[in-house]
Amino acid sequence: MPRLVLASKNKGKILELRELLAGLPLEIVSLADFPAIPEVIENGGAFAENAVIKAKAIAEATGELTMADDSGLEVDALNGEPGIYSARYGQPGWSDRERYRFLLEKLQDVPLEKRTARFRCAVALYNPDLNRVEQTDGTVEGLIIDQPRGNYGFGYDPVFLIPELGKTMAELSPEEKNRFSHRARAVEKMIPFLKRCL
Ligand code: IMP
Repeated sequence: MPRLVLASKNKGKILELRELLAGLPLEIVSLADFPAIPEVIENGGAFAENAVIKAKAIAEATGELTMADDSGLEVDALNGEPGIYSARYGQPGWSDRERYRFLLEKLQDVPLEKRTARFRCAVALYNPDLNRVEQTDGTVEGLIIDQPRGNYGFGYDPVFLIPELGKTMAELSPEEKNRFSHRARAVEKMIPFLKRCL
């Protein structure tokens, strides 16, 4: 069976990506299976650029078909923060909970209707045999509420409300999140390119 390397160590992301790709005849591995590969420096200025940097670097290191996801949260009242810095917002070493609490503190004087935000996901697929990269995106719009709700997901999911569902991302079951999320949308667009590599 062909192999696909997921260029991530984030357990939440890997779980979601595995489910989203479950129907394809692929053996899926992740960076956890390549402990000797050093951290990739994500020095791009946008999600798409960072996804391509990660996919290329890991495909070059492993020689295998590689998919990378670069994603994050953009909050309009904070001029798009935390954006590409979502994973390292606030202090180094903080937990997901500490990072979203820091975000809530910054938004404490902003009324709900002005707390518009979106999750963005850029996916890049790099095929080292063809030296070719494909890139797709997905977004989901929502509002940052002032108290966390729900226990599913990861990252900023507990504070991200999807108004049309009346639920936070962390109140969606993994199956529901994988129907609505920014990641699901980006991966869905990537599947035709992935099928061509099989
Ligand atoms: P990356 O690994 O540099 O792409 O960082 C992604 C970061 O964005 C994660 O660590 C989370 O903080 C945030 N993020 C991305 N996708 C999601 C999601 O689906 N739910 C919640 N937070 C997310």
